[in-house]
Amino acid sequence: MSVIVVHGGAGDIKSHKREAVARACAEAAAVGWQVLAGGGRAIDAVVAAVRWLEDCPLLNAGRGACADANGDITLDAALMVGRDLSAGAVGNVPPLRHPIDLARAVLERSPHVLLVGPGALEWGRQFGIEGCPADDLRVPADEPAEEKAHDTVGAVAIDDEGVVVAGTSTGGVRGKHPARVGDSPLLGCGTYADDEAGGASATGTGELIMRVTLARACVDAMRAGEHPMDAARRLTDDLHRRVGGGAGVILVDRHGRVGVGHSTLGMSWAWHRADGAACGWQVPAGE
Ligand code: GLY
Repeated sequence: MSVIVVHGGAGDIKSHKREAVARACAEAAAVGWQVLAGGGRAIDAVVAAVRWLEDCPLLNAGRGACADANGDITLDAALMVGRDLSAGAVGNVPPLRHPIDLARAVLERSPHVLLVGPGALEWGRQFGIEGCPADDLRVPADEPAEEKAHDTVGAVAIDDEGVVVAGTSTGGVRGKHPARVGDSPLLGCGTYADDEAGGASATGTGELIMRVTLARACVDAMRAGEHPMDAARRLTDDLHRRVGGGAGVILVDRHGRVGVGHSTLGMSWAWHRADGAACGWQVPAGE
């Protein structure tokens, strides 16, 4: 039943990068799967996979995160456990290598769900979570055609105990207002998990995802019995119809079935489970 699915963002990217981002997703899913295959917990699998993606300079999270209108870098991340609906999230935090670690600290060590701004990172220092120079996250400027890409990263897993966990991490959107927070750390928008239904991690323009509460809509569709592949496709199409623009989402339901859907040109994704693994830059028909 255990499975992990990851994404490296939805949008359009240069064709020569598509294989590389799909491969990065496959590697991250394999890292997460190693945890699950060893009998580990979904939370450890999701954090391991997201950390891997945060280290990938091709993607807009951790190393490779995009800059805001002032040229600074601020980061958003969230982690949610579907067993007890516990969650931790951070928004608009200063540069650090692994924002998902800070989200996990909020989940496990804070009475709160969402901490924002420099104070969130300062709070995390007592648990050994340190910031880094922004230059440690910067990578050479993207080509103009890639400016529209939404390379947020995320992972959703279910373990042998039936615990569903979802995690998401992002630099947001390029040139964003320095005070912006996106959908990723907002429960029900970019991230949601509920053992009684399934889990979701979204990617795309946060301002659109928030307006349709995409992650919670997908989880509720799975709760009602819809196959995650159908729910992912239907609800990303629905987002496009209702508010314009594109988004992508990865899903795992309580039975361990996987869904990947996007209303963008592409979306990098991968899943890994006992009977095999797959990855791609678009969801092929028939998946
Ligand atoms: N989906 C990432 C963001 O808009 O911040």
